[in-house]
Amino acid sequence: MHMKSLKNTIIIALMLMTVVACNMDKNHPGYIYFPDMTYSQASETYATNDVFENGFAMRLPVDGTIPRGYTPYPYKAKSFQDQVNAGLELVNPLQPTPENITEGKRQFEIFCMNCHGVLGKGDGHLYTSKLFPAKPTSLVEAFVQGKPDGEIYHVITMGSLSGLMGQHGSQILPENRWKIIHYVRALAK
Ligand code: HEC
Repeated sequence: MHMKSLKNTIIIALMLMTVVACNMDKNHPGYIYFPDMTYSQASETYATNDVFENGFAMRLPVDGTIPRGYTPYPYKAKSFQDQVNAGLELVNPLQPTPENITEGKRQFEIFCMNCHGVLGKGDGHLYTSKLFPAKPTSLVEAFVQGKPDGEIYHVITMGSLSGLMGQHGSQILPENRWKIIHYVRALAK
């Protein structure tokens, strides 16, 4: 056979092989050598799973994982220094607009009024009826009014130093804590 036609034949053969090798069915994965890798084995969340030491399919989140939208709160409860630091470092991000003060009042009446009183004087129903034994601090006198917003925010979030007033961080959204503070400032005027 002539050298040139042999070369042409090889080229045409290669081209044919390339075309034939292409699979037109996009959903077909082609040859499968390791089926358990191609078709992964799914585990139900609450099922058992022998692969893991504790036998649970569900894994714990990695250390330090936080829920979406959650900002970690770095100041500890019942720590004088942390309460002071919160006062120095946290800034009320909201303005005392009529809307914010109105919502602050609504939140105050849900979460604070029972103990601290309608006007924040420390004479709420829970205390005057002797259902709650500890005297709530007046929020409208110099002791609390002299504190920066961040310190009051800390008390709402983590409770008082002695723990007599409990934490409200899990019940009141951060923005509503700041609104309550604007309302408490307005009450004192
Ligand atoms: C179950 C009753 C109770 C509720 C509800 C409550 N407090 Fe208190 N609060 C207290 C008591 C009691 C104290 C005094 C605590 C102490 O001496 O440790 C106090 C103290 C405080 C202080 C002074 C903390 C300090 O530095 O000494 C602030 C500020 C305060 N409360 C704000 C609030 C706000 C704002 C709310 C609503 C979000 C609220 N409290 C809800 C009982 C309550």
